[in-house]
Amino acid sequence: MAYINEHYLKLKAGYLFPEIGRRVTAFSQANPQARVIRMGIGDVTEPLPPAVCQAMHKAVDEMADRSTFRGYGPEQGYDFLRQAIAQGDYQSRSADISADEIFVSDGSKCDSANLLDVLGERNRIAVTDPVYPVYVDTNVMAGHTGSADDKGEYSGLTYLRTTAGNHFIAEPPQQAVDVVYLCSPNNPTGTALTRQLLSRWVEYARKNNTLILYDAAYEAYITEPEIPHSIYEIDGAREVAIELRSFSKLAGFTGVRCAFTVIPKALKGRTPNGEVVDLHRLWGRRHTTKFNGVSYITQRGAEAVYSPAGRQQVKSLVDFYMENAAIIRQNLRELGLGVFGGINAPYVWMKTPGQLSSWEFFDRLLHEAHVVGTPGSGFGASGEGYLRLSAFNSRENVNEAMNRIKQLKL
Ligand code: MLT
Repeated sequence: MAYINEHYLKLKAGYLFPEIGRRVTAFSQANPQARVIRMGIGDVTEPLPPAVCQAMHKAVDEMADRSTFRGYGPEQGYDFLRQAIAQGDYQSRSADISADEIFVSDGSKCDSANLLDVLGERNRIAVTDPVYPVYVDTNVMAGHTGSADDKGEYSGLTYLRTTAGNHFIAEPPQQAVDVVYLCSPNNPTGTALTRQLLSRWVEYARKNNTLILYDAAYEAYITEPEIPHSIYEIDGAREVAIELRSFSKLAGFTGVRCAFTVIPKALKGRTPNGEVVDLHRLWGRRHTTKFNGVSYITQRGAEAVYSPAGRQQVKSLVDFYMENAAIIRQNLRELGLGVFGGINAPYVWMKTPGQLSSWEFFDRLLHEAHVVGTPGSGFGASGEGYLRLSAFNSRENVNEAMNRIKQLKL
């Protein structure tokens, strides 16, 4: 019998979304007549933009012809996409990122986990609480933590609490850490770091030699001008930050799969005996060894997001979901409930009514309104007493869900 990675045995229960899925399936089987509205997992509902579809159709035709067929592509991504990203997402915002600092991949979730391959074992790691669970679980799997306590918190991790008291915004800690995960706009709380606060984070990282893993998967949902779209809009970030971006929520690619990670050439790591190493080179080595690239058809679709028509269509898509978020916010506020997020992100983070725990409220919503949310406690101890509602849905479902919630005696 083979030995297993024992760190997996430290993980608490199942991954959050399959657990929600299990409860919803059990409810639906017992109540087949109930029309359940899913506002739990942040999965897009609207079809791909026409410009993306056209580009993908054209790419399929190329693949069907011997003279234009392509086999393996470059592992880091085709130059046409990397150039479009560098220009469209960075240089256009005066962020100094070049095409060869961009690594195209099949998802930010995978990238955030895979990055641990090139990071050592002795790092002091900080995460916010509540937090996207993947950051924590993958560090547990990699053996970077001790065991979990009763609250589900792992020894060895530094938790940066975000609460209603600090408007669910993470401030740099007093102590130095080696790696910090920042997600802005934030999943799950829907809040976002201002330029001023992000500058303080970059300053903190420069002072303490901290690597910031900056997850900007929801950047397209930013509506307020004081919120930066990329950490590289902040001076000095090239030396301290890796940025993760995704086409999933931007252009409806959750089922298509395309994302990218930016590793500036100026970014360095170190060995225990003090040797300074280029992280871009290390990641390139990892990527080319363990990954064969995203399909040509998908990358052509992603490239089309940057065309004039693609930009316009993606904006309409994002605007549509953000109108949903505004409807959710408005209705919950009318009920007198505490509401965060939903202004620069497609997630609304709501206080549960009365003293209900996150899972108690989840169950009430499911059983009485047939609406699925995500319990805040699934994102960490500080999420207890909150629930996340996703704005990714049809308008009809959002309106219907709000009507049903309003009819509950909360
Ligand atoms: C979420 O609902 O938190 C997201 O869909 C998860 C993800 O992007 O992996």
